[in-house]
Amino acid sequence: MCGIFAYLGPKTNAPELVIEGLKKLEYRGYDSWGVAAQANNRIDSCKKVGKISAYQVGDHNFAASSLAIGHSRWATHGGVTEANAHPHFNADHSLALVHNGIIENYAEIRADLESKGHKFVSQTDTESIVHLIDFHLKSMSLEEAVKKAMSEMHGRYAILLIKADEQKIIAARRGSPLIIGIGQGEFFVGSDIPAFLEYTNQVNYLDDDQMVIIDQEKAQFYDLKTNSPIEKRLITIEWQASQAEKGDYPHFMIKEIMEQKETIRRALEQDDQEIQKIAEAIKGAFGTYLVGCGTAGKVCLAATYQFSHIGHRHVNFAVGSEFSSLQDFIKDRSLMIAVSQSGETADTLEAIHAAKSKGAKVLSIINVKGSTMDRESDFALHIKAGPEKAVASTKATTAQMAVLTLLAYACAGRLEAGKKLLLDTQSQINDMLNPRYEDHIRTLADQIAKVESMYIIGKGVNYAIALESAIKLQEISYIHAEGFASGELKHGPIALISQSTPVIALISNDQSRKDVLNNCQEVKARGAYVIGIAPENDAVFDFWIKVPDAGEAQGIVNIIPIQLLAYHLGLLRKNDPDMPRNLAKSVTVK
Ligand code: G6P
Repeated sequence: MCGIFAYLGPKTNAPELVIEGLKKLEYRGYDSWGVAAQANNRIDSCKKVGKISAYQVGDHNFAASSLAIGHSRWATHGGVTEANAHPHFNADHSLALVHNGIIENYAEIRADLESKGHKFVSQTDTESIVHLIDFHLKSMSLEEAVKKAMSEMHGRYAILLIKADEQKIIAARRGSPLIIGIGQGEFFVGSDIPAFLEYTNQVNYLDDDQMVIIDQEKAQFYDLKTNSPIEKRLITIEWQASQAEKGDYPHFMIKEIMEQKETIRRALEQDDQEIQKIAEAIKGAFGTYLVGCGTAGKVCLAATYQFSHIGHRHVNFAVGSEFSSLQDFIKDRSLMIAVSQSGETADTLEAIHAAKSKGAKVLSIINVKGSTMDRESDFALHIKAGPEKAVASTKATTAQMAVLTLLAYACAGRLEAGKKLLLDTQSQINDMLNPRYEDHIRTLADQIAKVESMYIIGKGVNYAIALESAIKLQEISYIHAEGFASGELKHGPIALISQSTPVIALISNDQSRKDVLNNCQEVKARGAYVIGIAPENDAVFDFWIKVPDAGEAQGIVNIIPIQLLAYHLGLLRKNDPDMPRNLAKSVTVK
């Protein structure tokens, strides 16, 4: 949440360069933005409410500068106003600071500083940080003042600070991501890699309780706990800058949906021995817990069915934010499987920390290599989907499902059968994602674009996919959508069905088909407009979206038409499919 970007180097258009970098991070937060640049021993700044993508070069007359920091905001403390947008400053504007995270004791810090005469101009927690550093600066160096302030703050943060008369960026982190890009004589700092990928693929990650001081010469890292310098090995990022661009597509969401023509195959490029080793760890664990948030949470729920049905293993599931209430059952022989696109979601990370504190082992299934989860886990499987930039997850979802299905097969000693099934599924998806298919779904979107509510039902793994479908439809179309286990309809939700209410049934060609079709009859008898997503048509469907029969991988293919439907509903309802209101891609606050 919140995008952070900074530049220090020989170029003299640092503010414009930072704005371009922030545009690439806009999926992290897009309610307001701001930039601060150092020039002629003063700090020039620009803050605006709204999306940074609206900014055109020259909209603000920045002085030439080779040092700038910037931020695009997802509001936590304080409304969406220019005053609350970052950067925040001390009284004489000699310090500028941007922050991602939440400072839990900001109210106490602020009250204390106000009693000492500091004047605050925003409602944010962030402003207390820059005033605290300013206060300490009266009696110590800038570096010492930052370290002291960090030791006094509780909560999660990634901060960047610049000073009007020093050619350096100071960055520190506890909990929220920060990555340092090391170019040829120039330095970048970003909360995600795509921001600077066009300039360098050489990076260092800042870990918790670390600080980095970047000047024209080098980036020097420090451990804030031991107060000592640390050396870091450079990491090479394998992503290409073009992978993080829209190319010929109008939106990242549709580009990423279409990339599913090949992402399952890439997700399967795993080391067999590693997969077998992890399958043995699952079989030998005293309780395995799948944990994820949002879409990743629904993927975890889907996997519980796969592990049961294919792998004959009982695997537990919790969403990240609920795990703390279930952790009593974790033992040192337990295994947590954390599922996350970004590898940075705060609630999932907290669950990992809780599991590790009890001695459990952690496997992460993640997209972003080098992310915090990657670094903090005992094992990691990368889903290799490439950068996913639309806020609504699509290609990462199906790639995560593929890796978990593979693991379920490995638990049953049938790894090769799992690979074959998933490769076949990949070619079925490739055939399915053609322009005629998209047109068919667009026709449905046209028909239902004005409804107030819709419901999605499924049984078995399709129940989890119904819940994921509801998220996708809510976040992109803003239509009220809810997913149910189809058998649960008659225990309450059926009261919500009235004339022409769309009910989408997700169906597999297995023993669950008959039950779900019966449930379709029940809603149809009460006036519902029944949309079947199924390998075969049925008389109960008012509208049929054909999907290939993918057997145990049916959940993977059934979510794809929903992704397309959500995208087209979003367009018809004039929403921005890439940046839905109130949401952000990477949720690094609790
Ligand atoms: C946010 C995103 C979702 C994502 C969830 C978990 O809510 O909007 O698309 O599923 O975070 O993110 P993760 O990176 O852990 O998969």
